[in-house]
Amino acid sequence: MSKPTTPIALITGGSRGLGRNTATKLAESGTDVILTYHSNKVEADSAVAQIEKLGRRAVALQLDVGVSAGFTAFAEQVRGALHRHWQRERFDYLVNNAGVGVHASIAETTEAQFDELVNVHFKGTFFLTQKLLPLIADGGRIVNLSSGLARFSFPGYAAYASMKGAIEVLSRYMAKELGPRGITVNVIAPGAIETDFGGGAVRDNAQLNAMIASLTALGRVGLPDDVGGAIAALLSPGNGWVNGQRIEVAGGIFL
Ligand SMILES: NC(=O)c1ccc[n+]([C@@H]2O[C@H](COP(=O)([O-])OP(=O)(O)OC[C@H]3O[C@@H](n4cnc5c(N)ncnc54)[C@H](OP(=O)(O)O)[C@@H]3O)[C@@H](O)[C@H]2O)c1
Repeated sequence: MSKPTTPIALITGGSRGLGRNTATKLAESGTDVILTYHSNKVEADSAVAQIEKLGRRAVALQLDVGVSAGFTAFAEQVRGALHRHWQRERFDYLVNNAGVGVHASIAETTEAQFDELVNVHFKGTFFLTQKLLPLIADGGRIVNLSSGLARFSFPGYAAYASMKGAIEVLSRYMAKELGPRGITVNVIAPGAIETDFGGGAVRDNAQLNAMIASLTALGRVGLPDDVGGAIAALLSPGNGWVNGQRIEVAGGIFL
């Protein structure tokens, strides 16, 4: 009997926050990882070391998800890494996670802020996935990151949340078009989580933290473990029939 192949996950923004937590949780359950970082190589190297300590293989590649002109070259880098480190042609799971937060009212949002959000969150997810499609194994999985803010509204997040709403629609179309290849596509929509995101406000602003906790059925804000664990669970073998779904991971906010 041939040995089962180790799954390989590609996680954008896997160097910090939710992406890193997902990478660690997947590694703990036996998955190798290609992670990307934008500017913080030190954190990316430390994430790779953490995964290797868990006995899994990991590689960090630089990527700006806001610059689609670089995606063809990035796909070639992924192809090279797959050959070099795994002697494989394809990877199994794509997690489109990298992102930035912008807090500004509709009245104050600049075109530059809006364009950054479009490029990083929506255009990036669309065209990076397009360029990586030939490298994703048939029967593979894609998870796109949205936000609770695409379901409920908080002043100051109109542009950001609109991009996440677009990702949710896009994910259903991806699921439809990739179904014939056996690839599932789902959305994880986290609530407010204590990471560096948006300047670390949820973690560092006690008043904001308490306000969100008071709105949440489970009575606290989220931690990276809450989301990384959910993504790893969604990617586990028993969840292959979940497809085209939005799963909110928010402790039950605004129920
Ligand atoms: N935290 C929350 O409350 C929350 C809630 C709902 C949804 N989300 C979503 O969850 C995802 C991850 O958020 P997080 O909290 O983990 O954020 P984070 O802690 O700030 O980490 C962001 C990650 O994305 C990378 N990144 C940032 N800009 C990038 C770019 N232009 N190109 C490529 N990579 C880039 C960073 O790399 P460097 O370290 O190299 O900069 C880092 O690895 C985002 O899509 C976010 O919208 C977060």
